[in-house]
Amino acid sequence: MRVEPKGTGLGASIHDIDLSEPLSQENYKAIEQALGRYGVISFPGQTLTSRQLRDYAEHFGQLEINVANMYHDADYPEVMILSNMKEDGKPVGLSDAGQDWHTDMSYSKTIAFSNVLYGIKIPHRDGRPLGNTEFCNMHAAYADLPAALKEELADMTITHDFNKFWEMMRREKGSTRPPLTEEQRKRKPPVSHPVFLTHPITGKKVLYANPGYSMRINELPEARSDEVLKFLFEHQLQDKYRYRHYWKAGDVLMWDNMGTIHNAVADYRPDEHRLIKRCQVMADKYFPELY
Ligand code: SIN
Repeated sequence: MRVEPKGTGLGASIHDIDLSEPLSQENYKAIEQALGRYGVISFPGQTLTSRQLRDYAEHFGQLEINVANMYHDADYPEVMILSNMKEDGKPVGLSDAGQDWHTDMSYSKTIAFSNVLYGIKIPHRDGRPLGNTEFCNMHAAYADLPAALKEELADMTITHDFNKFWEMMRREKGSTRPPLTEEQRKRKPPVSHPVFLTHPITGKKVLYANPGYSMRINELPEARSDEVLKFLFEHQLQDKYRYRHYWKAGDVLMWDNMGTIHNAVADYRPDEHRLIKRCQVMADKYFPELY
């Protein structure tokens, strides 16, 4: 297998590997290392069944079955369908997943390690792909923080809430998703995580905050918490930390949910079809004490 860095802070393509086949331990290890180092890795030209996608993703940790996951493969509930397509007038997938800045599962006691997406149908206009996925580099965002703020926040924690992103989508993006039920909210109550995590692969600190789910810095008065979160959200979204994956059908895209935050760009119309299968890999291997 050959790793081709994109030459920016984030991003690498991995060639000469077939993810439909079981891989050697060396290859899994090399992929994990590449994920830590480049944050976002793509494997172009793959052909995978849902089962093969699940089997590949599962190698990296326990797979999440999403609390609001109405749309998943009939045989493999760990494989979620993201799509704006309809069959017999009914949606085949969740049409607006991840359409603003966030990182997956920061609202969960055991956080997410990686998302593994397989692109089947990618919308295009004027020859260019739409529905691309953008990332920001949280290793670099941490490194650049003012020293005084690093010191102030060093032992502090942030409350993350699944409902924050869900309600933002309903309020600001015209999403037709219904409010979460009491039962769904009980299954994902707000949780706290350190503001700065030591990344389990790189051993370096990352900023573990995101506009999608981060609600409050627990150890600060509310006004100061609001002020610092506003600063952190603006800081982490600066252009210098950004990288964009331009999708091609057949891409498998994998990213590190601790070292990056992401945004699914909603720039395509309902008649411009997108179909992606997704597995969410938990970080249970790295933080077993939380399980
Ligand atoms: C996600 O947030 O996992 C969805 C990303 C995408 O569809 O591009």
